[in-house]
Amino acid sequence: MTEVIFESDVPVSKEFGDVYFSKEGGMEETVYVFWEGNDIPKKLKASGKSSFSIGELGFGTGLNYFVSLELWRKEKKPPSLFFYTLEKHPLEERTLKTMQTHFPELITWETSILQSYLNYMARKPIPQDPWEWIVPHPSGTSTFTLKLYLGDVSEVLKIWDVSIDSWYLDGFAPSKNPQMWSEEILSAVAEKSKQGSSFSTFTAAGFVRRSLQNLGFSVEKRKGFGKKREMLVGRFTRTN
Ligand SMILES: C[S@@+](CC[C@H](N)C(=O)[O-])C[C@H]1O[C@@H](n2cnc3c(N)ncnc32)[C@H](O)[C@@H]1O
Repeated sequence: MTEVIFESDVPVSKEFGDVYFSKEGGMEETVYVFWEGNDIPKKLKASGKSSFSIGELGFGTGLNYFVSLELWRKEKKPPSLFFYTLEKHPLEERTLKTMQTHFPELITWETSILQSYLNYMARKPIPQDPWEWIVPHPSGTSTFTLKLYLGDVSEVLKIWDVSIDSWYLDGFAPSKNPQMWSEEILSAVAEKSKQGSSFSTFTAAGFVRRSLQNLGFSVEKRKGFGKKREMLVGRFTRTN
């Protein structure tokens, strides 16, 4: 379990020296950068899809998951959603519990999901199978399945047997955690992408943009969240 310090009530990783979500509004950042950046509302409505998959690099506090779940729940009869995510440095119970105070308007770490997460984290040896949490849609027609894999991104991506529709690239700033943005990792992301799948990320770092372009993503710069000047979104358009 990894330790954090708090700055303006926002958890900051001691190891990476970076925030888990924006001090200017974590929920709004998830909506703007990841949910809307990937155009997910439109994609969920696209006809003929019985399920939709999101792949996230860096589960952290779970905020992106909880916000996505809430927005999916508000959609009318959406397809089932699979949220694949991974984490090498899981957060402690006391850190996760601060989410309910920080975001009282959002359902986050309620007793049942927190207990399930803690039971999974307590398993020895470290589990190879993912932690799963399934929530039914209010319409009763679909489900939202969280699958969290423990381990280093380079190991976990190898075992993901999936084709992702939309990526949340959220592994701390590239300058503070370059490993999460290496050619090796981004090419694994490309390999697990469907033709036309999308990605979004809070960063606009030049080497990330160039790597994604080289791997067959068309990349666009957009206005970043809050004080951030730019961010990146794009689509996987490689044909061979
Ligand atoms: C910005 S935080 C993610 C925030 C998260 N999406 C949320 O909603 O709270 C980045 C996450 O990436 C994780 N991480 C960093 N390096 C990693 C690696 N090599 N393998 C797996 N996870 C890693 C960190 O532990 C951290 O939880």
